Amino acid sequence: MAKVVIVTGAGSGIGEIVSHRLASEGWSVVAADLNEETADGTAKQIAETGGAAHAVGVDIACAESCEAMMATAIAQFGRVEGLVNCAGISKPGDSLTYSAADWERMIAVQLNGAFFVAQAVGRQLVRQGTGGALVFISSTNAEAAFPRRAAYCAAKAGVAMLTKVLAVEWAAHRIRVNAVGPAYVETEMTVRNIAAGNVSREAIERRIPLGRLAQPGDVADAVSFLLSDRASFITGHSLYVDGGWLAYGYL
Ligand SMILES: NC(=O)c1ccc[n+]([C@@H]2O[C@H](COP(=O)([O-])OP(=O)(O)OC[C@H]3O[C@@H](n4cnc5c(N)ncnc54)[C@H](O)[C@@H]3O)[C@@H](O)[C@H]2O)c1
Repeated sequence: MAKVVIVTGAGSGIGEIVSHRLASEGWSVVAADLNEETADGTAKQIAETGGAAHAVGVDIACAESCEAMMATAIAQFGRVEGLVNCAGISKPGDSLTYSAADWERMIAVQLNGAFFVAQAVGRQLVRQGTGGALVFISSTNAEAAFPRRAAYCAAKAGVAMLTKVLAVEWAAHRIRVNAVGPAYVETEMTVRNIAAGNVSREAIERRIPLGRLAQPGDVADAVSFLLSDRASFITGHSLYVDGGWLAYGYL
């Protein structure tokens, strides 16, 4: 029987590519997104290529919404074995003038959201008694500080610690919890940041030892591995898919 995975942020970017990859590997995919239309688009494309998928709207910043997403997944597929939390937002800005509302929304989506989706899926896995695997999409910004990204960096550092805490707390339930932390990935989010002048493509390519942006498929490779039984003894780990960004400390 096909295993079931919930992918948040499935309507765009990393989440969309991860959904397609996991479907092609035989997972039934619950494609969840704040934007129900794009989630539906991902689910339909998966179905057109012979996979199994069901779209659901969710605001991961809201615990009740995450529980409702979980209930929809169970109504559709009967059980769940995996979660990939790809939903996220980006809003750079100077720390002296960053608004309280922007700070609170960033933490609400990127940190609270990671906890609420994990909690909803974790509760279900414990009810099932089957064990399972959770993967958060974190960022190299969990480790590396960028100016004008205080809320984003703080939230991603929080996700790295959340990964460790849930891993040790839920190991007894055979639930593994890991994170994948990309450097710049060529998605809508990055294209928007480049277009807004927040960062230059050439500068990114210079800064990354492997000399290119990550492709969403690079991230999907790491996610697929961490969800699989090949990673059955790996938990509490952040795997950085960064072309050497974090290793690089020279000029
Ligand atoms: N693109 C990069 O370079 C990069 C690098 C490192 C980490 N990341 C992280 O990867 C994740 C995905 O980024 P992406 O580049 O695919 O972005 P994206 O903008 O292409 O996709 C993000 C998706 O999340 C959804 N979303 C936003 N808020 C939501 C909410 N409250 N509830 C449910 N869904 C919501 C959006 O509708 C969108 O479909 C984010 O957490 C981001 O921080 C991205």
